[in-house]
Amino acid sequence: MRIEKTSTSRLESTDFNNLKFGEIFTDHMFVCDYEDGKWDDPRIIPYKPIEIEPSANVLHYGQAVFEGMKAYKDDLGKVWLFRPTENYKRITISSERLAMPELGENIFLSALNELLTLDKGWVKPGIGNSVYIRPFIFGSEHCIAAAPSNKYKFMIILSPVQSYYTGSIKVLVAEKYSRAASGGVGYAKAAGNYGSQFYPTSLAQRQGYDQIIWTDSKNHKLLEEAGTMNIFFRIDNTLITAPTTDTILDGITRKSIIKIAEDNNINVEVRHISIDEVIEAHSKGILNEIFGSGTAVLVSEISSFGYKGKNYNLKKIENSYAATLKSIITKIQYNLTPDPYGWRSEVSAIKV
Ligand SMILES: Cc1ncc(COP(=O)(O)O)c(C=O)c1O
Repeated sequence: MRIEKTSTSRLESTDFNNLKFGEIFTDHMFVCDYEDGKWDDPRIIPYKPIEIEPSANVLHYGQAVFEGMKAYKDDLGKVWLFRPTENYKRITISSERLAMPELGENIFLSALNELLTLDKGWVKPGIGNSVYIRPFIFGSEHCIAAAPSNKYKFMIILSPVQSYYTGSIKVLVAEKYSRAASGGVGYAKAAGNYGSQFYPTSLAQRQGYDQIIWTDSKNHKLLEEAGTMNIFFRIDNTLITAPTTDTILDGITRKSIIKIAEDNNINVEVRHISIDEVIEAHSKGILNEIFGSGTAVLVSEISSFGYKGKNYNLKKIENSYAATLKSIITKIQYNLTPDPYGWRSEVSAIKV
């Protein structure tokens, strides 16, 4: 791998106390090109604009997939990733669905390790501080024929962040718009899945909600996921989350939460759950919690949900599952407890 270091680091001039999510980037980025059927010339170079022609595939047909992960620093200055091979598996699944070439696992993991080793000064210690990692692949061939690109770029950029959402959020249950339909691309982390959410989400935000809970596209009854989070419902003392069908992103936080909850004697049910069941539980007073899970937020408590013009508030409870599970995962991520699952992976330039 070629490494070209920046001569003008922005690290010292960055105000780490006033970071807006995803606006500041570290000194370097990773780039690798796909041409003639193979990935070639992996390199780390200073973060800067890239040049593509107006005819590039991604601008017209949207062949673009990405990942979202984080790096955490412990008090000894070691930098850690959380289940990075799961992100590799998922970008492979996403790429296949978008007719994009498979990336070698070694490219993905060595790129992450090398880049984070170089920019580790940007990962600040302390819970809530992290570097958000954005690996992405896009079709870069200059050709406007409606066909898969023959050229791609795989890149990784890094953005220092503090906690994403603060406090609990309000969500609106989708009644008209859909995020994904069966047979579509919902399970892929494809750029277009996000672009198409912005309009309905902005309508929900105008009504005072933060996010939409997406429902099945046929009947708008089954609760699928919310924004960039999978979603959990605690009815009585059972934690329920939808199965990851082809309309739902298979969240790494979600699967970690399921495992930790089960190991902490919380009854977990992975099954379809409808808005009717949730409203009934609310009316009986046994809808104890709703929370979202995802890399950016980790766990985000939901304080109320709207459906058919009515708003349903959830009472704040002591010792919530959300808080308990968040604390357990956070401690694993920041190397504050042993990691019985082997989920934590130390960043190192030579490992992989
Ligand atoms: C649509 C969607 N669902 C769920 C998630 C949560 O996935 P993860 O826990 O892997 O971050 C994300 C975030 O990546 C997402 O974009």
